[in-house]
Amino acid sequence: MAFLIFTFVLLFSFVDLHPLSREETKCNTDAYPPPLKDQISDVYINLDLKPEDRWKEISLNMKVELLALLHEIKNFTNFILNGKLFNYIDKDLPFIADTLPDPYGNEIKGIAKATGIPLGEIVLYNIFYEVFTVCTSIVAQTPGGKLFHARNLDFGLLLGWDVANNTWSLPEVLRPLIRNFYFQRSGKTAYVVTGFTGFVGAISGMKPGVLSLTMNERFNVDGGFVGILEWIIGFRGAKWTTFLARDVLESSISFEMAYNALSNKKILAPCYYILGGNSTGQGAVITRDRTRSIHPMRMEQTEAGWYVLQTNYDHWKAPLIIDDRRTPGKKCMNEMTQKKVGFNGLYNVLSTIPVLNKLTSYTVLMQVNTGKVESYRRYCNDPCFPW
Ligand SMILES: *[C@@H]1O[C@H](CO)[C@@H](O)[C@H](O)[C@H]1NC(C)=O
Ligand SMILES: *[C@@H]1O[C@H](CO)[C@@H](O)[C@H](O)[C@H]1NC(C)=O
Ligand SMILES: *[C@@H]1O[C@H](CO)[C@@H](O)[C@H](O)[C@H]1NC(C)=O
Repeated sequence: MAFLIFTFVLLFSFVDLHPLSREETKCNTDAYPPPLKDQISDVYINLDLKPEDRWKEISLNMKVELLALLHEIKNFTNFILNGKLFNYIDKDLPFIADTLPDPYGNEIKGIAKATGIPLGEIVLYNIFYEVFTVCTSIVAQTPGGKLFHARNLDFGLLLGWDVANNTWSLPEVLRPLIRNFYFQRSGKTAYVVTGFTGFVGAISGMKPGVLSLTMNERFNVDGGFVGILEWIIGFRGAKWTTFLARDVLESSISFEMAYNALSNKKILAPCYYILGGNSTGQGAVITRDRTRSIHPMRMEQTEAGWYVLQTNYDHWKAPLIIDDRRTPGKKCMNEMTQKKVGFNGLYNVLSTIPVLNKLTSYTVLMQVNTGKVESYRRYCNDPCFPW
């Protein structure tokens, strides 16, 4: 955490923020519908195929974009080990694919094989999200008891600030990789995940008719790096957070079943799971450390009573002052009022700076009963906060 604050302060010293103040949030009310060009397209993943073959077509189609991303990561990790970091990654990370549970390890191998990209690099890409995902997630309920789930995905904090362009380099190369993946069995959708091509876990997803969930990172000293290190040296009792999320989409058949799995399974990194069900009141924030759920919060326990909103700070504590997306997010939810809960209203809240910021790569909107998913690539033009 000290490192994080230090880096924030460092960034503040060269990022020009004077036109903006976090105290004067002006809630957006006319961002929806966004331009069609920003709409994210759908891809079907056939679960009847062997894990190795499921991602073949899409990863081949997206090979150029995947290479651009890896090139970017190589560029800004160039200072590590005299530029030799990727030699180690190519040589030493492939074995991790063998240790990952089914189907994830084999899906990752299939992606490497289809694209010819070194397996260690695809493994790295799949590990990244355990530790660098900052976001805002909301589950909200209409006066009639219908649940909507929405989130901004902000990714790439501290990785490559582009001084010339005043942007982060990672979101730039990640945006082209975003798709809505419809996982199907016998031609029927089992669940939908919005995410990055080449990444096989779930950060945002919905099981139509049953549940919706998103995962936000939780900063903690006993954090993702420790868990990953333990995995590498052979302690493999815990689950990768994004694989657990996909397991839940795959096999949970009710809100309560998902709630229990997300609360009780051991995981590699602390995180927040934001869970929505299919009927009135079924919204919750599950705050996880690596072994258990702490201070669970259901929708009816919140001040407003009709929504839960979670960023990257424990809900019973104040957020870091220089990274407060919670106060503006709640302010805009309350201004919106429960009557306007829906894709339009939630998209506007998630389009308000700094809830929307320069790390935001997509916004996803989900309605579990209709099974409808809409997602959009996001850009935040100056004046905008870097996170
Ligand atoms: C690599 O990063 C540096 C800044 O660290 C930048 O000047 C350069 O243009 C980048 N190179 C490529 C090929 O992206
Ligand atoms: C800055 O952004 C433009 C347009 O997005 C891009 O073409 C250019 O390569 C970027 N510059 C750097 C240094 O990355
Ligand atoms: C909600 O999910 C439960 C458990 O799967 C199911 O029995 C129920 O019919 C669902 N309700 C609605 C409104 O879809």
